[in-house]
Order: sequence, then structure tokens, then C-alpha cells
Amino acid sequence: MNIVVLISGRGSNLAALLEAKLPATVAAVISNKADAAGLALARAHGIPALVVAHRDYGSRAAFDAALAAAIDRHAPALVVLAGFMRILTPGFVGRYAGRLINIHPSLLPSFTGLDTHRRALEAGVKIHGCTVHFVTPELDHGPIIAQAAVPVLEDDTEVTLAARVLAEEHRILPQAVRWFAQGRLVIVDGRVRVADEL
Ligand code: GRF
Repeated sequence: MNIVVLISGRGSNLAALLEAKLPATVAAVISNKADAAGLALARAHGIPALVVAHRDYGSRAAFDAALAAAIDRHAPALVVLAGFMRILTPGFVGRYAGRLINIHPSLLPSFTGLDTHRRALEAGVKIHGCTVHFVTPELDHGPIIAQAAVPVLEDDTEVTLAARVLAEEHRILPQAVRWFAQGRLVIVDGRVRVADEL
């Protein structure tokens, strides 16, 4: 089963996927940023790594069309947004409906969007975390596949909280991909159920 992973930066979630020995192959890594460190990580693993730079396209739709063309060359069963920092058009999301997932650094539906750790600290929440979900046209609102919660400590900073959440991201994203590869994710009335091991 082929997976294509989209990144924009460091690629620590990509690294977690590569280390997880999943029943799937990362067929390509695509970034919208040429300086994404995750591209070098992919190349070090012998994985095709390419850049589709959004600034090279005149519109969001043109960028998404180029991105889809690059993705489809690898005929993925699953596309994983792993630290991918672009909002995708409804047309793109519709093309990959049911096989496009994202890792978001908050307990959705709380703290959709950016700067989740700073906002969690400002809100004074005692529990924070991360979510893997199917991507739908509405940003950060798709059916939830997996979540992990972490405590927010008195002396937490954005950096210490982000690190605690990131460690959990590296656990639940591979788990979600494994369940998908095993064909165990079922969406009923907009909610995800993980079927028993076949
Ligand atoms: C992660 O916190 C992810 O949840 C967010 O981007 C951050 C960077 O991820 N979307 P990575 O280290 O590039 O995988």
C-alpha cells in the first residue's frame, strides 16, 4: 500500500512514520517549501522527495492541481499531511476524500488553526494534546481517528508544551496509518470506528 506524505518543515512526524515499520510504503514525500528539512530525511531513506512550491503558482487552485498531479504519479492509497502548512481547496480535498488524513496539535475541536500551544496556555486549559483526523473541506474539522492527551503543567512554556504534544503525535500518527492500512477505519455518521483486527 503506497502512502504519499506532505510536509512543510522539520518532518519529525515523517520520521516517526518511517521508524514505525508500517504495513505500507512511503512512496514519495512532497513539500511546498524547498528548505523543508524533511526532504533530506526522505532522500536519506531513498524516498523520492520533491518540491511543489506554492509561490510558483498563480492561484491556490493551480497549486493544488500541480500538487495532485505530483501525488497521483505514485497512486497512493493514503495521503498524509504531516506538518503541512497549506490550506487545501475543496476540490483537492474532494479528490482524496476518505484517504487524506492530517495530524493537528490540539484536541479537536478545541484550538483549530495555528498557534495551538500558545492559545492553550493562554486559555489556561489543564489538558491539551493532538488529533489525527480525516481531512474535509472545513479546516481541522474532519472525522477524528485518534487523539492523545497530555497534562499542561504550571511552568509550561509554548516550547515545553509543544514538545510534550509532539511526542504523542509521533505515537498516534503511525497508529492511525497502521489502522488505515489494515482497513480497520470505518466512518459511521461522521464518526470513526476502528474495526477489530481482521
Ligand atoms: C507538528 O506539531 C504538527 O502537528 C504540525 O506541524 C508540526 C511540525 O511537524 N502540523 P513536523 O515536525 O514537521 O512533522
